[in-house]
Amino acid sequence: MNEEVRRILEKNSRGGADVLIPVLQEIQEIEGYLSPEIISEVSRSMGIAENRIYSIASFYDQFSFVPRGRKHIRVCSGTACHVNGSEAVVNEIHKQIGIKPGARTKDGWFSLETVPCMGACSLGPVVEIDNKHFSHVTAEKIRNIIVTHREEEEEL
Ligand code: FES
Repeated sequence: MNEEVRRILEKNSRGGADVLIPVLQEIQEIEGYLSPEIISEVSRSMGIAENRIYSIASFYDQFSFVPRGRKHIRVCSGTACHVNGSEAVVNEIHKQIGIKPGARTKDGWFSLETVPCMGACSLGPVVEIDNKHFSHVTAEKIRNIIVTHREEEEEL
């Protein structure tokens, strides 16, 4: 376990559920995401059941349970977005960069996650990349968005 994470857990071992969110925020800041191993450590160290940690953390958009790439793509899979074609968007992303939801590309550039309703149903399908929102996304539109983000990679 990362030394910084160990220190955070030692410092907060008696804090209980009251300090769980800030603890998870600090750990995610260091680790980039909340792995199953980290959730187990948090559970053991703070005496909170793993399923309770998952249930609390998954309520907040800010937490990720998959390793994130430098460009983290979130596709809404809520009902309205699904009806309007979010699955075709996910399939196109898979075709373009070769990953399915919950994965990261080998070069670490892109990661992909499907998430529940993002609260903009009339604009669906909705996609978010690096806190920027794209609305009425189609397969063609996501293809262009990915090309633009790939160009950023090549510029580095
Ligand atoms: S279902 Fe996608 S924003 Fe609500």
